[in-house]
Amino acid sequence: MATLTLCSLSCAAEVLPQPQTTGGLPLMDVMSARKSSRDIDPSQGITRQDLSNMLWAAWGETHDGKRTIATAMNRQELVLYVVTATEVSRYDADHNTLTAIGKGDFREATGKQDFAKTAPVNIVLAVDTDKQPRAEFQAYTAGAASQNIYLYCAHAGLKTVVRAMFDDAALRQALQMPANEKILFVQTVGR
Ligand SMILES: Cc1cc2nc3c(=O)[nH]c(=O)nc-3n(C[C@H](O)[C@H](O)[C@H](O)COP(=O)(O)O)c2cc1C
Repeated sequence: MATLTLCSLSCAAEVLPQPQTTGGLPLMDVMSARKSSRDIDPSQGITRQDLSNMLWAAWGETHDGKRTIATAMNRQELVLYVVTATEVSRYDADHNTLTAIGKGDFREATGKQDFAKTAPVNIVLAVDTDKQPRAEFQAYTAGAASQNIYLYCAHAGLKTVVRAMFDDAALRQALQMPANEKILFVQTVGR
């Protein structure tokens, strides 16, 4: 596995393109097109606009400080990490940024299935267990965000699959994950 180059102040937050939060295919068409795909082409990336839109779909802000998904008691416990061929980063919905945690290719740590190691993007769906300690609510939150990623991908012509098969210890290490966070799923995205 790659060696993690830890980010200090030198790793600035990347401001993502403004998410496109209107328009798109009709909802019923998108739901009809939702599916899991594993035949992801390693040679094709996804655009920063798609990444921004997808992260907003999963966990963006909508109105009055609320989100695209419901959370029990509005605890807003979801935490999203993005693992690409070049870095691992954390999504900040408030500022629409990705802050690098480390540089390097850690896709291997995201999964036991080969396609995960070569796909352009793996989104780690995690929760802050201090904000929400109840496992069933944590699972609801990660599941709702996952479904929104599925729907965005169906709309945008991207391939995706949510995965529970990952090595928790390896992935926690790659993400430098604090003890209060817990990984629920990883969702692979590509073309
Ligand atoms: C909680 C959960 C965990 C899953 N884990 C994996 C996984 O580790 N690897 C995988 O290839 N697919 C995984 N899947 C995808 C399912 O296999 C897929 O959703 C199912 O076969 C139905 O296909 P569809 O999503 O195209 O409707 C998972 C799905 C869910 C909901």
